[in-house]
Amino acid sequence: MNPCYTSILRLRAIREFEDRPIDSVDLDAVLEAARWTGSSKNRQNWSFIVVDDSRQKDRLTKAGDFTTPIANAPAAICLVQEPDGYEFDTGRLAQNIMLAADALGLATCPITLHREDMAADILGLPEGRRCRYAIAIGYRSPASGPARFGGRKEIGELVYHNRYDG
Ligand SMILES: Cc1cc2nc3c(=O)[nH]c(=O)nc-3n(C[C@H](O)[C@H](O)[C@H](O)COP(=O)(O)O)c2cc1C
Repeated sequence: MNPCYTSILRLRAIREFEDRPIDSVDLDAVLEAARWTGSSKNRQNWSFIVVDDSRQKDRLTKAGDFTTPIANAPAAICLVQEPDGYEFDTGRLAQNIMLAADALGLATCPITLHREDMAADILGLPEGRRCRYAIAIGYRSPASGPARFGGRKEIGELVYHNRYDG
Protein backbone atom coordinates (compact mmCIF):
# COMPACT_ATOMS: atom_id res chain seq x y z
CA MET A 1 0.00 0.00 0.00
CA ASN A 2 1.21 3.53 -0.73
CA PRO A 3 2.71 4.96 2.51
CA CYS A 4 1.01 8.35 2.15
CA TYR A 5 -2.36 6.63 1.77
CA THR A 6 -1.62 4.39 4.76
CA SER A 7 -0.75 7.44 6.88
CA ILE A 8 -4.05 9.08 6.01
CA LEU A 9 -5.99 5.99 7.07
CA ARG A 10 -4.16 5.41 10.33
CA LEU A 11 -3.89 9.03 11.51
CA ARG A 12 -5.45 9.34 14.97
CA ALA A 13 -5.77 12.03 17.62
CA ILE A 14 -3.15 11.34 20.31
CA ARG A 15 -3.61 12.92 23.72
CA GLU A 16 -0.57 11.80 25.73
CA PHE A 17 2.97 12.81 24.96
CA GLU A 18 6.53 12.27 26.11
CA ASP A 19 7.85 14.92 28.48
CA ARG A 20 10.44 16.35 26.10
CA PRO A 21 10.54 19.37 23.80
CA ILE A 22 10.05 19.07 20.06
CA ASP A 23 13.25 19.05 18.01
CA SER A 24 13.36 22.46 16.32
CA VAL A 25 14.16 20.85 12.95
CA ASP A 26 10.98 18.75 13.20
CA LEU A 27 8.91 21.72 14.33
CA ASP A 28 10.21 23.89 11.49
CA ALA A 29 9.39 21.10 9.01
CA VAL A 30 5.83 20.87 10.33
CA LEU A 31 5.41 24.65 10.04
CA GLU A 32 6.81 24.52 6.50
CA ALA A 33 4.14 21.96 5.58
CA ALA A 34 1.55 24.28 7.12
CA ARG A 35 2.88 27.20 5.06
CA TRP A 36 2.43 25.24 1.83
CA THR A 37 -1.22 24.39 2.47
CA GLY A 38 -3.48 25.48 -0.35
CA SER A 39 -6.10 28.10 0.47
CA SER A 40 -9.06 29.70 -1.24
CA LYS A 41 -7.75 32.14 -3.87
CA ASN A 42 -4.32 31.45 -2.36
CA ARG A 43 -5.11 34.05 0.29
CA GLN A 44 -3.05 32.31 2.98
CA ASN A 45 -5.05 34.26 5.51
CA TRP A 46 -3.63 32.49 8.50
CA SER A 47 -0.78 32.64 10.95
CA PHE A 48 0.55 30.19 13.50
CA ILE A 49 1.44 30.77 17.12
CA VAL A 50 3.63 28.09 18.66
CA VAL A 51 2.88 27.99 22.37
CA ASP A 52 5.56 26.10 24.27
CA ASP A 53 5.88 28.21 27.41
CA SER A 54 4.32 26.19 30.22
CA ARG A 55 2.48 29.13 31.81
CA GLN A 56 1.12 30.24 28.45
CA LYS A 57 0.05 26.63 27.71
CA ASP A 58 -1.67 26.52 31.07
CA ARG A 59 -3.60 29.73 30.28
CA LEU A 60 -4.62 28.30 26.91
CA THR A 61 -6.12 25.20 28.49
CA LYS A 62 -8.71 27.48 30.14
CA ALA A 63 -10.03 28.61 26.74
CA GLY A 64 -11.51 25.24 25.76
CA ASP A 65 -13.51 22.42 27.33
CA PHE A 66 -11.35 19.43 26.30
CA THR A 67 -7.85 20.82 26.40
CA THR A 68 -5.98 18.21 28.46
CA PRO A 69 -3.88 17.25 25.41
CA ILE A 70 -2.42 20.78 25.44
CA ALA A 71 -1.43 20.33 29.07
CA ASN A 72 0.12 16.96 28.19
CA ALA A 73 1.99 18.17 25.10
CA PRO A 74 5.25 20.14 24.94
CA ALA A 75 3.63 22.57 22.50
CA ALA A 76 0.44 23.66 20.81
CA ILE A 77 0.26 25.27 17.40
CA CYS A 78 -2.55 27.82 17.47
CA LEU A 79 -4.19 28.37 14.10
CA VAL A 80 -5.01 32.03 13.70
CA GLN A 81 -7.64 33.01 11.13
CA GLU A 82 -6.60 36.37 9.70
CA PRO A 83 -9.26 38.75 8.32
CA ASP A 84 -11.14 37.20 5.36
CA GLY A 85 -9.79 33.76 6.19
CA TYR A 86 -12.04 30.74 5.65
CA GLU A 87 -12.70 27.94 8.12
CA PHE A 88 -12.30 25.42 5.29
CA ASP A 89 -8.72 26.66 4.83
CA THR A 90 -8.08 26.29 8.55
CA GLY A 91 -9.26 22.70 8.32
CA ARG A 92 -6.87 21.96 5.49
CA LEU A 93 -4.09 23.59 7.49
CA ALA A 94 -4.84 21.43 10.50
CA GLN A 95 -4.81 18.23 8.48
CA ASN A 96 -1.52 19.14 6.77
CA ILE A 97 0.06 19.86 10.15
CA MET A 98 -1.19 16.54 11.51
CA LEU A 99 -0.04 14.48 8.54
CA ALA A 100 3.36 16.21 8.33
CA ALA A 101 3.85 15.70 12.06
CA ASP A 102 2.94 12.04 11.72
CA ALA A 103 5.45 11.61 8.88
CA LEU A 104 8.16 13.06 11.16
CA GLY A 105 7.34 10.79 14.11
CA LEU A 106 5.29 13.35 16.00
CA ALA A 107 1.75 12.92 17.31
CA THR A 108 -1.03 15.50 17.37
CA CYS A 109 -4.51 16.24 18.63
CA PRO A 110 -6.81 18.96 17.30
CA ILE A 111 -8.18 21.16 20.08
CA THR A 112 -11.22 23.43 20.08
CA LEU A 113 -10.88 26.73 21.92
CA HIS A 114 -14.56 27.20 22.70
CA ARG A 115 -13.98 30.55 24.42
CA GLU A 116 -12.55 32.43 21.47
CA ASP A 117 -12.46 35.81 23.18
CA MET A 118 -10.39 34.35 25.98
CA ALA A 119 -8.09 32.63 23.48
CA ALA A 120 -7.65 35.92 21.57
CA ASP A 121 -6.76 37.71 24.79
CA ILE A 122 -4.30 35.03 25.92
CA LEU A 123 -2.63 34.99 22.50
CA GLY A 124 -2.59 38.79 22.16
CA LEU A 125 -4.46 38.75 18.85
CA PRO A 126 -5.11 42.10 17.22
CA GLU A 127 -8.68 43.09 16.29
CA GLY A 128 -10.18 41.02 13.47
CA ARG A 129 -8.12 37.88 14.13
CA ARG A 130 -9.58 34.79 15.75
CA CYS A 131 -8.28 31.48 16.98
CA ARG A 132 -10.82 28.68 17.40
CA TYR A 133 -8.46 25.73 16.93
CA ALA A 134 -5.05 24.61 18.07
CA ILE A 135 -3.04 21.45 17.47
CA ALA A 136 -1.41 19.84 20.49
CA ILE A 137 1.85 18.33 19.27
CA GLY A 138 4.67 16.24 20.66
CA TYR A 139 6.22 12.79 20.69
CA ARG A 140 3.65 10.13 21.44
CA SER A 141 3.90 8.70 24.93
CA PRO A 142 4.43 4.92 24.87
CA ALA A 143 1.83 4.89 27.67
CA SER A 144 -0.83 6.45 25.46
CA GLY A 145 -3.61 3.97 25.00
CA PRO A 146 -5.78 3.17 22.01
CA ALA A 147 -7.89 5.98 20.48
CA ARG A 148 -10.59 7.16 22.90
CA PHE A 149 -13.32 7.25 20.26
CA GLY A 150 -11.96 5.57 17.15
CA GLY A 151 -13.90 3.74 14.48
CA ARG A 152 -15.70 5.21 11.51
CA LYS A 153 -19.13 4.91 9.91
CA GLU A 154 -19.50 2.34 7.17
CA ILE A 155 -18.94 3.62 3.64
CA GLY A 156 -22.52 2.74 2.74
CA GLU A 157 -23.80 5.23 5.32
CA LEU A 158 -21.80 8.05 3.80
CA VAL A 159 -21.68 7.90 0.03
CA TYR A 160 -24.43 8.85 -2.41
CA HIS A 161 -24.28 9.10 -6.16
CA ASN A 162 -25.66 12.04 -8.06
CA ARG A 163 -28.42 12.84 -5.53
CA TYR A 164 -28.95 12.31 -1.81
CA ASP A 165 -32.42 10.94 -2.46
CA GLY A 166 -31.42 9.04 -5.62
C1 LIG B 1 -12.52 20.24 14.59
C2 LIG B 1 -12.04 19.27 15.64
C3 LIG B 1 -11.99 19.67 16.97
C4 LIG B 1 -11.54 18.78 17.95
N1 LIG B 1 -11.44 19.22 19.24
C5 LIG B 1 -10.94 18.39 20.18
C6 LIG B 1 -10.75 18.85 21.53
O1 LIG B 1 -11.06 19.98 21.87
N2 LIG B 1 -10.20 17.99 22.41
C7 LIG B 1 -9.84 16.70 22.08
O2 LIG B 1 -9.34 15.98 22.95
N3 LIG B 1 -10.03 16.24 20.82
C8 LIG B 1 -10.55 17.04 19.87
N4 LIG B 1 -10.69 16.61 18.57
C9 LIG B 1 -10.29 15.24 18.21
C10 LIG B 1 -11.51 14.35 17.91
O3 LIG B 1 -12.18 14.05 19.12
C11 LIG B 1 -11.03 13.07 17.20
O4 LIG B 1 -10.43 13.40 15.98
C12 LIG B 1 -12.20 12.13 16.93
O5 LIG B 1 -12.78 11.70 18.14
C13 LIG B 1 -11.78 10.90 16.14
O6 LIG B 1 -10.72 10.27 16.80
P1 LIG B 1 -9.47 9.75 15.96
O7 LIG B 1 -9.09 10.93 15.05
O8 LIG B 1 -8.41 9.46 16.98
O9 LIG B 1 -9.91 8.55 15.20
C14 LIG B 1 -11.14 17.47 17.59
C15 LIG B 1 -11.20 17.09 16.24
C16 LIG B 1 -11.63 17.96 15.28
C17 LIG B 1 -11.65 17.52 13.83
